[in-house]
Formats: sequence, C-alpha cells, structure tokens
Amino acid sequence: MKVLILGSGGREHALAWAVARSPRVTEVVCAPGNGGIAQTARCVPVELKSLDAMVRLAEAEQPGLTIVGPELPLALGIVDALRERGWRVFGPTRAAAMLETSKGFAKQFLHRHNIPTGNYAVCSTAAEAEKAIDIFHPPIVVKADGLAAGKGVVICPSRHAAVETAQGLFSGALLGEAERQVVIEEFLEGDEISFLCLSDGKHVAPLVPAQDHKRVGEGDTGPNTGGMGAYSTDELLNPGMAEWIRRHIAEPTVRAMAEEDAPFTGVLYCGLMMTARGPQVLEFNARFGDPETQAILLRLESDLVDALEACVDGRLAETELRWAPGASVCVVASSAGYPGSYQTGLPITGLAAAGQVPGVQVFHAGTVQAGGQLVTAGGRVLGVSAAADSLKDALTRAYQALEEIAFEGMYFRRDIGHRALGKPGK
Ligand code: AMP
Ligand code: GLY
Repeated sequence: MKVLILGSGGREHALAWAVARSPRVTEVVCAPGNGGIAQTARCVPVELKSLDAMVRLAEAEQPGLTIVGPELPLALGIVDALRERGWRVFGPTRAAAMLETSKGFAKQFLHRHNIPTGNYAVCSTAAEAEKAIDIFHPPIVVKADGLAAGKGVVICPSRHAAVETAQGLFSGALLGEAERQVVIEEFLEGDEISFLCLSDGKHVAPLVPAQDHKRVGEGDTGPNTGGMGAYSTDELLNPGMAEWIRRHIAEPTVRAMAEEDAPFTGVLYCGLMMTARGPQVLEFNARFGDPETQAILLRLESDLVDALEACVDGRLAETELRWAPGASVCVVASSAGYPGSYQTGLPITGLAAAGQVPGVQVFHAGTVQAGGQLVTAGGRVLGVSAAADSLKDALTRAYQALEEIAFEGMYFRRDIGHRALGKPGK
C-alpha cells in the first residue's frame, strides 16, 4: 500500500518513520516533507493552505491511505474532501476538528456534556469580555477563539491586562487578524499532561502519555514555542488515573461528538491540567502533537498503519496497541533566536554519528537538502529522540547524540524531563 502523509515537521518525520516500518507499506509519500523525511519517503511539493492543491495531489498519487499531520488542512476540510471522493483518510472532518479550531466551541461542548474543564466565558465583543473579566480572579487566561499557531493564549496578571488583551484580540492588534470570539478562562494550576487517543468515531485507544516543554528556556522560562522537547514514561500517569481520564474525558468526548453528528475519527489530543480538583481539559487538538509524537511513536511496538486503518474503518475496538515499557524523549535543537527571528541555510553536521547512538532516532523538523548538503530551514530544526529502559537512560542517549550534531547557533534545552526526574521514585 502507498501511504501519503501531509505535513513537513518533526511529527511528520516520526509518522513517516513509523509508517515505513509496516510490512504492508510499499511506498511512503510526504507532502511537502523536509530534508530528513526525504531519506525515508518520496517528498512532493504541495501548498498545505490550498485544499485544491492537496486534493489534486491525492488524485495524482492515488494513495491507499492519507494521514493528515497539521491542523490547517483539517480546518480547510481535507478529510471531508477526500472522503467525498471515496478515498481513505486518517483525521477528523472539518466539523469534528472544531474541537481544536474553535476554543469557544470546545469550551461550550465540554460544559454541555459535563466533561471536566475550568470556568470560562465565551465573548463576542470587547465590552462583553470586560464584564466577564470582572468575575475572574487574576491571573486570568485570555484566548483567541481560532487557530493561532500557539500565539493565541495570554496569561494576564491583572484584570487590566486581561481587558487590554481581549481588546487587542478583537481589534486584530495582537494577532494581525481580528478575532470574532474571545474566551476568558479560569487559571488552572498543576502538571500538564498530553493524553492522546486514537478514535474511530465510537471507541478510543489511548497512546502512552507524554509531557511537552513549551517554553524556550530551561526551568520553563521565556516565551512559548511550538515545543522544545517531550518525553513519555508510564509513571507520568498511574493506571487508575489513566483509566479515569479515558472514562470521564476521552470516551465521553467521542460519544458526545457522535451524538452531535460530528463523529470524531483521528487523534483526539486532550491537553490536561492535573489540578487539585482532578484532571481538567485545557484544550483539545484534533491531530498528533508535535513534539509529543516523536517520543510516543518511539515506544510503539505494534503496526501504526494497522491502527490508523482500524480508525478509518471503525474497527478500533478489535485493535490492540503494544508499547515498549520504559521511556522515550525528544529534545528539540532549534535555531538561535527562535521563537523570534532566526537565520536559515546553515549547514548541519554530525547526523550520521548521532544516529549511531543506540536507541536514537533523529527526526527532522526544519531542514532541507541544498547543494548536496543538509541545511537548516526552520526555527525548530531537529528532534533528537531516544528510547531506553528508563527516562534517565533515554535522556543520556539523546544528549549524547546531540553532542555529535552541530550547526551555527544550535540551541537546545538541557532539562527535558526534569520534572519527572526531580520526583522521588521515578
Ligand atoms: P492551549 O493552546 O489552550 O493549550 O494553551 C497553551 C498553554 O497555555 C497551555 O499548554 C497551558 O500551559 C497554558 N494554559 C492554557 N489555558 C490555561 C488555563 N486555563 N490555566 C492555566 N494555563 C493555561
Ligand atoms: N505540543 C503541543 C501541540 O502539538 O500542540
């Protein structure tokens, strides 16, 4: 079978790597892909902003299965468009992806179905937001309703700052585009967990839990990024808690989406805060997380393509996912200046030696082949990933591999997984 993967980041490299391991797969095509993915898959250009271009590509390639990586094609309705033509595609429809594409929809949905989440108000004018802000205690969380590539959430230390943020979102001063809805939220405290599940529209199959590191600086300081690293261990969630989350958050969400005539097929990514009151939903994503996927797929022992096809065919209940015990990590190597402006086109060396470290896979996020050489092409450049029997050993392997790699201005956090290592018994 030929598999088409849409996307160009570290997540898509990990997906291509896992798909290529399936004995049933004869060819992996990735659009547009990147310099590292090109070593595993045939990369073809496509504009991920253009529904027409993606449909034309699928028409030309005739894949047996298409896997959608990022949120933008989902928001454009790529799953609906391919399904209408009778093609097999893994991901949610545009209506189901609203769990990610509209934070207001997600909050009202959670409330309607009594699924645990913090208090909130969905507002359509700055005046409404100002009134809502009055009833929250600072810090107050102010969110753009729509997709904002990680820039749509502001934690405001005072009511005044919250009002200004809401005004900035409505006027377009903050994100460039004027928001039609803004969500005001209670600030939740606790550890964050990424709880990802496969879903076939009826059933869910949880993946191993993960935690990502969104801030650029060590000790979780500085501005938010797309993610500077992630790790996965079984200790992140005890079995009782994982079961509770499945039964009280993931399953009710999938059941309720089906009841609302928008059955959710694909990856339901539950971003959770583990609070004193129990797990609360911070946000949903309608796709694999990046960089969580790089760590999670390193632990997957069963066939990814079988599992994704079971979702497409509505037979997830019969499918078993098998995982390696132990731990995995992904440490992101980024360009100097990221998440602000950065230089591209810088030569990368040492990848072959890094790949020789046992248990290590180097997933590329922003690289390109130029003149017979691999060069940087993005803010996040590589996701150096490793699996081992323990988190400590996985980290040792990833950091050993990073010692081998160099490009001008390369930056990475040396404290990935620190929260888990800091806790006794882990
Ligand atoms: P989101 O895109 O909704 O996941 O928000 C991005 C990040 O902002 C989350 O990963 C949290 O770290 C933080 N965040 C979002 N909502 C809240 C909240 N209600 N309370 C505390 N932190 C939050
Ligand atoms: N790692 C967070 C995300 O994929 O949205």
